[in-house]
Amino acid sequence: MIKIAPSMLSANFATLSEEIKSIELAGADLLHIDIMDGHFVPNLTFGAPIVKAIRPYTQLPFDVHLMVTNPGDYVEEFAKIGVEYFTFHQETVPHMHRLIQHIKQCSMKAGVALNPSTPVSLLEDVAADLDMILIMSVNPGFGGQSFIPNAIKKVKQAKMLLEEVDNTTAVIEVDGGINDITCVPIKRAGATVLVAGSAVFGADDRAHMIESIRNN
Ligand code: DX5
Ligand code: ZN
Repeated sequence: MIKIAPSMLSANFATLSEEIKSIELAGADLLHIDIMDGHFVPNLTFGAPIVKAIRPYTQLPFDVHLMVTNPGDYVEEFAKIGVEYFTFHQETVPHMHRLIQHIKQCSMKAGVALNPSTPVSLLEDVAADLDMILIMSVNPGFGGQSFIPNAIKKVKQAKMLLEEVDNTTAVIEVDGGINDITCVPIKRAGATVLVAGSAVFGADDRAHMIESIRNN
């Protein structure tokens, strides 16, 4: 079962609640929320107050992707808002195991994201604790970039890694440059959650685009 997580980064921020309603009605499964600090990545977006403000406007589970140097500082705040997945970047954290436990103690699902240059093997010793592996298929920071094909290989490696774990329910998510064409090899490689920002929000028919990414 493939899940589609439109990225709010490509929404019209002036009419955010309507934008979110629109993609919920169009068949989205999750709302992907990109938190950027202008430090880990060269762009600033928004923080917990905006995420809290939109929570009442949709039933969609929140898939929060933290591109910040200090993700551990925000665990409790996002847990209180009612976030489903809390995903931080491997590159930002020296104590991944500790942070993963903290996220789960706060009743959220724990995800780890990997930049295009970060090997999947770095997750070997935490694979059994994870709820999500997020393979970045662009360098994080901006929507609308081109898909980096090396992500396909990394999804296969993540799948093999999870196959070694007994009874895991962890999912593989891919983020960056996903559209109705790039989705094909990435799903074949084993990804089951696909983030799509510009492809969905920029489509004339958002429902059709979501269905195409799901079914192509
Ligand atoms: C990039 C973000 C992505 C981005 C995806 O740093 O993490 O979620 O919004 O946008 P598209 O689908 O346009 O590449
Ligand atoms: Zn993202």
